[in-house]
Amino acid sequence: MKQNTRYEVVFNTMRYLPLCLIQEGMVNGRNLYGRNGELLLRSGTVIQKKYIQKLNGLGYDGLYIIDGLSDDIDVKEIINENLRISAVKTLTELFNFVEDDTANPTALKSKLNDITEIVNSFVENITNHKNAIVNMLDLISFDDYTYTHSINVAILSIILGISIDLNETRLQRLGLSAILHDIGKLFVPKEILNKPGKLTKKEFQLMSMHSYKGYKYLKDNFDFHPTIFLGALHHHEKFDGTGYPYRLSGKSIHLFGRIIAIADVYDALTSTRPYRKALPPSEAFEYIMSNAGSHFDGDIVKGFVKHIAPYPVGHMVKLSDNTTGIVMENYAHYGLRPKVKIIRHGNEPVTPYIVDLKNDPDKTNVTIVGAAE
Ligand SMILES: [Fe+2]
Repeated sequence: MKQNTRYEVVFNTMRYLPLCLIQEGMVNGRNLYGRNGELLLRSGTVIQKKYIQKLNGLGYDGLYIIDGLSDDIDVKEIINENLRISAVKTLTELFNFVEDDTANPTALKSKLNDITEIVNSFVENITNHKNAIVNMLDLISFDDYTYTHSINVAILSIILGISIDLNETRLQRLGLSAILHDIGKLFVPKEILNKPGKLTKKEFQLMSMHSYKGYKYLKDNFDFHPTIFLGALHHHEKFDGTGYPYRLSGKSIHLFGRIIAIADVYDALTSTRPYRKALPPSEAFEYIMSNAGSHFDGDIVKGFVKHIAPYPVGHMVKLSDNTTGIVMENYAHYGLRPKVKIIRHGNEPVTPYIVDLKNDPDKTNVTIVGAAE
């Protein structure tokens, strides 16, 4: 398979707005794709009412737009567009093979090789950019949760693996374990997977079998390094011993399971699901931090805090001095002190100016109080 493995950071000038603030006539800032890589909405398209309705139906929470205020907001993509499209397409094909009992084992293995190559490209791209802080919302804009979630979890897990100094081979194994961590969900009835309400006890039991079923499927069918199986098996265990399937605690949960657990929860919270709307990244970030040492391994959460941006570039924030601005740049290790382009004082628009919370000596007392619209 021909794969674009070159590292590439793409810069685009745009800012993010929640869907409720998107209006007809605004200009879309980035290409949006469907699950087969088909273009849903091209960058540069003028938004029409019917597009907003369609995006709402597809579960989008917001859009990157291009306007006068976004002129100098550079959104960097850590994984380039071609690689992301290819990842979604290949993972879709792989999962279709897994679900199809009559699939040819050779074709299945070849698809798995393609996925391995893609994960290795993720590792290469992210390693080249290891001091960056990542704006997770920028990573994926596809409309199918199963695939985009698996890919986001792989990317996030690799970032966390880098933050605790795993070598390249272990990062590649971690990435593969993470992209396949929920493969067991293919063996859970769809009505349970997509149920909008709370699961009954019986349904929850069936659902919670997916980590074991995925482990078993991978172990029975593929000749992987054993750590790859364990990452899938342990991704719902919790550090304090309250998870499943074995109620393991602390370091008896495999390292890959402890990493994937954080990536999985963070991405699930920031995605719209049949039963709830997505949380803003800053709230999901707080959830991860507040569960360090209970649900999650505190040492890995420290790496998460340094490398994931609670307020991604292009997002609006409110500051403690009653100003509002757009995040222009995030700094690794200082996720709460980004560079911000101020556009409002109170409710009054002002001529935009830049405040650098990390580096401006006269702004040391100013903090971000939350996401703004
Ligand atoms: Fe899972």
